[in-house]
Amino acid sequence: NAKPDVSIVEVGPRDGLQNIKTQVDTSIKIELIQRLAASGLRTIEATSFVAPKWIPQLADSKEVMQHIVASGMQKSINFPVLVPNLKGFEGAAASKAQEAVLFAAASEGFSRKNTNCSVEEALTRAEDVAKACLAQGIRARGVISCIFACPYDGPTDPAKVLSVAKRFLEMGCYEVGLGDTLGIGTAADTEKLLRILLSEIPADKLAGHYHDTYGQAVANVIKSYDMGLRTFDSSVAGLGGCPHAKGATGNVATEDVVYMFERAGVATGVDLQQLSETGDWISKQVGQKNGSRAGSALVAK
Ligand code: HMG
Ligand code: MG
Repeated sequence: NAKPDVSIVEVGPRDGLQNIKTQVDTSIKIELIQRLAASGLRTIEATSFVAPKWIPQLADSKEVMQHIVASGMQKSINFPVLVPNLKGFEGAAASKAQEAVLFAAASEGFSRKNTNCSVEEALTRAEDVAKACLAQGIRARGVISCIFACPYDGPTDPAKVLSVAKRFLEMGCYEVGLGDTLGIGTAADTEKLLRILLSEIPADKLAGHYHDTYGQAVANVIKSYDMGLRTFDSSVAGLGGCPHAKGATGNVATEDVVYMFERAGVATGVDLQQLSETGDWISKQVGQKNGSRAGSALVAK
């Protein structure tokens, strides 16, 4: 198995499921993770160690991690988990997570609604978590929300995105994901922002985390790839949505990203047919329309 040309970070079990109103059984989450792993994905964001009263859907993070650890899958697959503060870190470390995803917004309004604190406070908490991670040999990754615009504060200043990204790297994150939470950005917006970020940050420290509300996310992925990025977050069947952004859809569908890259001769390491069947299966399990155009076409064949 040759090393893939791009790294796909599957975030369906976390970003995709976190917002679904009816409680998804833990057994379905585990089956989803197993199926994603079987399709060749090598990084799967598994769950969140956040406050359960904020995100009740992922209150079973401990159980999900227990199954992952017991399965031995961690030997070959990376399972990052979202961590907002030291309490979350303790849960993640006790569950033997090997990577923590720290998060902060590039806008004050979103920071308040999502984490009940200012951007600076979120970064200070992240610094505490990063320190604890590094002391225990746990990898830390940062993700920034609202890179283009915030549902409360309007357009985001690229200088703010740059400063948050630099903070994450300074605290020891090996990579920073760029979250277009609203799924509003176009290829032109992506190019404009990346030109600014890449003037100070190497491309291999950045990842695209694009939501697909306006149908622009695949274009944003290829634009970012052309500008040197090689890691992209995506969600099987395009699962997801944001509680703070009315009408916002999930992340770019993993099937659509894999289809686009493979047709360009860029290896992803993912079996697209198998992944598409998983996308169809999980969409039915959670009672949502399959959000992947490529996946829907492939299962209809
Ligand atoms: P708070 O209410 O200000 O915190 O929440 P608190 O310290 O006052 O604690 C309140 C209660 O939560 C207490 O329990 C704590 O023990 C508990 P009580 O005494 O009431 O029983 N608590 C926790 N429990 C478990 N794990 C924890 C934890 N922390 C506190 N880690 C806090 C502040 C940050 C915790 C909260 O706002 C929170 O959990 N927010 C997370 C929200 C979230 O997960 N959002 C979605 C993920 S971010 C995202 O999707 C964007 C991304 O995809 C990128 C993009 O697309 O933009 C990453
Ligand atoms: Mg997201």
